[in-house]
Amino acid sequence: MRIVIKENRYEASAFAAEAIALQLQQKPTSVLGLATGSTPTLCYEQLIRLYKEGYVDFSQASSFNLDEYHGLSPEHPQSYRYFMQQQLFDHINIDVKNTHVPDGLNENPIQACSDYEDEINAHGGIDIQVLGIGRNGHIGFNEPTSGLQSRTRIKTLTQSTTNANSRFFGNGEFQPELALTMGIGTILEARKILLLAFGEEKSQAVQTMIEGALSAYCPASALQLHPDAIIVLDRDAASRLE
Ligand code: F6R
Repeated sequence: MRIVIKENRYEASAFAAEAIALQLQQKPTSVLGLATGSTPTLCYEQLIRLYKEGYVDFSQASSFNLDEYHGLSPEHPQSYRYFMQQQLFDHINIDVKNTHVPDGLNENPIQACSDYEDEINAHGGIDIQVLGIGRNGHIGFNEPTSGLQSRTRIKTLTQSTTNANSRFFGNGEFQPELALTMGIGTILEARKILLLAFGEEKSQAVQTMIEGALSAYCPASALQLHPDAIIVLDRDAASRLE
């Protein structure tokens, strides 16, 4: 693991966006692995800026998102497909046909997960995977005790993740308790990984991921096994590191 500590989340996000831009400059047909949530939004903002300034071209790129809620349509404002359109895809020149998010409405989610793996492989695998980290150390929706070699599958969300996400759903509104997610084994096959973490509330998970034992209790600790994982932190997220 390479640890990069920046003064604040803006500098950290600019670093991550530049790494993605460099990847695309070196290989225009790159396959991007993308995340949702609050963490990558500044990085996506920076990528949009780099695109508008002519530094990066997505026309030959493709993408695979980590996860999607089961039971939400792509048009649902809380779906991860909707998020990606709003935060990135609608503002850059990626061909929407080349963007992939697990199908949250598929009536056969087990098959949909296996098809997703096949599709990633058919694209030659992921070149660079963007990740955030949950306060409990999850990556994607791989909650603690997820198998370190797990593949894309349907998972039950833990109470803590459901609680953390409940702020996005209205009172009485259906909130999914299941999600389709790339597995930890799937994530580890990406050729390069960029995990971003900001704020004091992530500092415990960050310390466990980097300095703790490799353990399914902290799914992100699996990145210790990866030959090219860069952990990009702001000062607060790095505050508990030795
Ligand atoms: C999102 C994802 C999740 C988030 C994590 C952190 O696609 O896979 O693992 O990265 O829950 O979420 P934020 O960034 O909202 O703190």
